[in-house]
Amino acid sequence: MDELVTRDVGRAVATLRAGGLVAMPTETVYGLAADAEQPDAVQRVFEIKARPADHPLIVHLADAAAETSDLAGWAADVPPAARTLAATCWPGPLTMLLSRGPRVIDAVTGGRDTVGLRVPSHPVAHELLRRFGGGVAAPSANRFGRVSPTTAQHVVDDIGHLLDPDRDVVLDGGPSDIGVESTIVDLTVSPPQVLRAGAITADQIAVLVESGVADASGPSRASGMLAAHYQPSCRVVLAGDRREAHRAANAARAAGRRVGILDRTDDLVVAARQLYADLRRADAIGLDDLVVVLPPAHGIGVAVRDRLAKAAAS
Ligand code: TXA
Ligand code: MG
Repeated sequence: MDELVTRDVGRAVATLRAGGLVAMPTETVYGLAADAEQPDAVQRVFEIKARPADHPLIVHLADAAAETSDLAGWAADVPPAARTLAATCWPGPLTMLLSRGPRVIDAVTGGRDTVGLRVPSHPVAHELLRRFGGGVAAPSANRFGRVSPTTAQHVVDDIGHLLDPDRDVVLDGGPSDIGVESTIVDLTVSPPQVLRAGAITADQIAVLVESGVADASGPSRASGMLAAHYQPSCRVVLAGDRREAHRAANAARAAGRRVGILDRTDDLVVAARQLYADLRRADAIGLDDLVVVLPPAHGIGVAVRDRLAKAAAS
């Protein structure tokens, strides 16, 4: 039997071609990748994640030459704002929703007329995609609703037992640098709408597209943007500042609960990078409650607060 975890990109390329799954590193989080044009492989991604079929997958590309008119068949219509964002933000942590092109199969989008496209910057992901040559459909490599993985070990812990070492691989590219999922921006509406916060902020996008940007408000158009998500087993309790956190922790301790406090408000980049490892660690050490001091709502702090709100939702 082959080892599930590998650093061998050539083996991962062969795995994709053969219709197997590759848990791949990206700069945001690890994804569970299948050849986007093999319906059976895409179907297995949904099964392993236990993900509802109407939560579409992002298609990852090696480099979607922004200058070509159709993003090589993946998008049908590429408005000027999308071209600008592709030129300035790719490769990187930005997913664009565009009207789907002829290469996009129904299994990837759940039959929608839009597709999410992203060109990751992680060097191992880039090499994998370049050598593979096609698009790979990949959600985060965690069980549906749970904490996203930012290391190969996280993937093994979550879904290793569901992967087949003779068909699938976990491609180890080290810890993800950013730590929270890509910003999702819908370019099929005007002005473009940010549906998920990430390392690239709505303000940055607004400056680039010069048309203003709407923030997702009300019921989100990205299915899968559920109120509860990214959840560890312990209860996550949010606190506005350190004093409030200590008060909440003391109250919970008095009630006999095992409590930890997480405060990474002094460095937002580290707060994002470590967020999911921190949530996993709370479970690993058997906490009942993790009290988290919310980081300020600027820069990547917006994305961290978004994930924490969903981790805390019941
Ligand atoms: O950083 C990321 O984006 C990571 C890495 C692996 O690239 N991927 C990721 O995928 O976070 P996932 O599937 O966990 O989250 C993608 C979200 C889901 O909520 C999905 O429903 C939504 O994007 N989505 C994808 N395609 C869509 C579409 N065509 N229309 C609406 N929502 C879409
Ligand atoms: Mg996810």
